[in-house]
Amino acid sequence: MAETSVLSGKRILLVIAGGIAAYKCLELIRRLKERGASVRAVLTKAGAEFVTPLSVQALTEDTVYQDLWSLTDESEMGHIQLSRDADLLVVAPATANLLARMAAGMADDLAATVLLATDKPVLVAPAMNVRMWEHPATQANMALLEKRGVRRVGPNKGEMACGEYGPGRMAEPMEILEAIAGYFTERDAPKPLKGKRALVTSGPTYEPIDPVRYIANRSSGKQGHAIAEALARLGAEVTLVTGPTHLPDPPGCAVRPIETAREMLAACEAALPVDIAVCAAAVADWRVAGESDRKLKKDGGGPPALSLAENPDILATLSNAGAKRPSLVVGFAAETGSVVEYATAKRARKGCDWIVANDVSLGTTTFGGADNTVHLIRNGGVENWPTMGKDAVAARLADTIAQHFQNKTP
Ligand code: C5P
Repeated sequence: MAETSVLSGKRILLVIAGGIAAYKCLELIRRLKERGASVRAVLTKAGAEFVTPLSVQALTEDTVYQDLWSLTDESEMGHIQLSRDADLLVVAPATANLLARMAAGMADDLAATVLLATDKPVLVAPAMNVRMWEHPATQANMALLEKRGVRRVGPNKGEMACGEYGPGRMAEPMEILEAIAGYFTERDAPKPLKGKRALVTSGPTYEPIDPVRYIANRSSGKQGHAIAEALARLGAEVTLVTGPTHLPDPPGCAVRPIETAREMLAACEAALPVDIAVCAAAVADWRVAGESDRKLKKDGGGPPALSLAENPDILATLSNAGAKRPSLVVGFAAETGSVVEYATAKRARKGCDWIVANDVSLGTTTFGGADNTVHLIRNGGVENWPTMGKDAVAARLADTIAQHFQNKTP
């Protein structure tokens, strides 16, 4: 269990919507208060069908806010004030209906209004029937909210009150408490890269053949996105330039989506000056010379010949950007044999400072997989890192980058 004393003195605004899981909120309030947090509650009309305002009031030892139009509430505490007087807003249970209203930016009751008016982070604990959770509408609403930075805990899989089985059960009070504590731990963690600007490239590039076809590669973007997120977590101001991937935008990063290598270069140059550049994208080496602006047709004359032109090398361009050169440039090298040897030569050829080398031979699952085995090649030599998740590789690389800057600037 994470250290929960981080909750001491924290102000939680708990929004309780109408679901059978609402009763678990009473336990959550008790546990939060035990750890020194103060809890103020907003109860929706439907929420009040499941828990009584009186029990919420008794546990929070505060007024329970229920009505957008209540004069008493507005005179004592306006909804804007209510939404900003907290360190964190927690929505538990977050029903399908409330998630939909949040995603749409509605303000049709006090809960939705508070959630729209807030400038504070929001954590939701969804709770609903499994079909409602799995419905594309709810999934799209949730994805949109997460893209906007809303955090989520659960839902868990299990037996539901309605008799069905699957994901939809609200996370247990202690899991919600852990997620709340995790937020504060992360927020209050040291930020050694604060004040530093970082540029990360990620994903594949798509090089068009004609308006409907393109040349691409199997890069998933997982490693690059994880690095962007890890650098942001350490306080860096991160621009992530990414080719098409299926990944959500990493929290706290400015994301610049592109398709071709030339667009990637332009987006990278627009992001300069930066202190750190990490080129983790799998940029296509070649593009189709003279791409067709009309769909190529089978005209009986055999397949068309594609001629290729070389793409700009973004890593080499950034490494040789003169006065605009980032002070630390990190490249990647995907090799299928003699990994360290080739990567060392690549470091010299491209002019970057560090190379993260990995083995992408047939049989390894580096492309698209969750794990990575890398070697960090620097001036001082080679570090062989154990096989770890891409998130762990990203965290270790971000820590190593932070150490590098700490050593440089005493
Ligand atoms: O030459 P190679 O593609 O093996 O080099 C890999 C490294 O160079 C990676 O860091 C990749 O992001 C970067 N690269 C680039 N632009 C290219 C090709 C590779 O930034 N056109």
